[in-house]
Amino acid sequence: MTVLPMRYFGDPVLFSAADEISEAEIGNAGLRSLVADMVETMNHYGGVGLAANQVGITRRVFVFDCEGDQGHVINPTWVPVGEDTQVGSEGCLSIPGIRGDVTRAQRVRMRGTTVDGEAIDRIVEGLLARCVQHETDHLDGVLFLRHLSRDQRKTAMQQIRSSEWFNR
Ligand code: NI
Repeated sequence: MTVLPMRYFGDPVLFSAADEISEAEIGNAGLRSLVADMVETMNHYGGVGLAANQVGITRRVFVFDCEGDQGHVINPTWVPVGEDTQVGSEGCLSIPGIRGDVTRAQRVRMRGTTVDGEAIDRIVEGLLARCVQHETDHLDGVLFLRHLSRDQRKTAMQQIRSSEWFNR
């Protein structure tokens, strides 16, 4: 397994929508090693989730490790379950050091497929529900900054522009 280089805010790949993974690819060695490398990369950087765009690959897959619940989802989709929302501080491995308050659905039904071709259909809540929404956004080329209030986004952009990683 390999730790893949992280892509940071400013890299166009983070604003690109990822492509659906075909049924023929599910179970193949390339996809298995991508998932394994993404898990390694997420652990290395200490994240609770990682989408393929963040390692420069525009394919619809993310990995997660939220409060001991670990896994990956190929071609993820989600819908809210109920109307409850959660407001919490959110960050992103691709925007180091930046956090802001994001409102998300409290509970979602997450669907997708594993690398073994098994259907995933789970109702999840709290941090994992937040993670599913954040990572699926990545696959649509959307960063959490878009969900911040105008004031918080302005502050975040100022912090990004003065960040060492942004000016490297
Ligand atoms: Ni992120």
